[in-house]
Amino acid sequence: MQIADVQGEIDRELVSKAQIENRIKQVAKQVSRDYAGKNVLLVSVLKGAVNTMAAFSQALSINAQMDFMSLSSYGAGTSSSGSITIRQDLSTDVKGRNVLIVEDIVDSGRTLDWLIRELKGRGAASVEAFALLEKPSRREINVSVKYTGFEVPDEFVVGFGLDYDERYRNLDSIAVLRPEVYQGGQA
Ligand code: PRP
Repeated sequence: MQIADVQGEIDRELVSKAQIENRIKQVAKQVSRDYAGKNVLLVSVLKGAVNTMAAFSQALSINAQMDFMSLSSYGAGTSSSGSITIRQDLSTDVKGRNVLIVEDIVDSGRTLDWLIRELKGRGAASVEAFALLEKPSRREINVSVKYTGFEVPDEFVVGFGLDYDERYRNLDSIAVLRPEVYQGGQA
């Protein structure tokens, strides 16, 4: 889906399809160098990271295994503790593996911080992260993100995996949603 298909609902494009592709290729080149000979395991968190995972994994020039996790967070983004539980676990034993977490966005940092601790606790040899987007103004936990695509402002961002109420995930670029769309809604 393209912005033209949902034009009335979008305020403006933030990152174009070409910019996303180019940046993912750049990061993939760097990761391919950094992980040469290391049998990397890519771990992504459903559902938002799926588009990034697909594009990023294909842009690598090294073999990479892939696995997925589904998490549910309670109270994340509020002043509460934001505890996270596993809805669907990995099928891979990460012990001794070099894990690279692939995320669509790091917002408060709670999800990534929790996941890095969890995977290290399972005995991974190394755990690093690639996040396509970062919202620095919303960061609550100073978690280390080794590879980043773009920094975005604190606005309602959708597309390339990011949703509002399960919509816009299949938009091929990243855009800011018009406030009218979520006014009175969950946002
Ligand atoms: C999003 C995103 C990250 C997390 C980032 O997932 O994919 O996993 O939130 O936010 P944080 O840094 O504040 O923890 P979400 O819970 O919206 O689920 P989804 O991927 O299914 O959309």
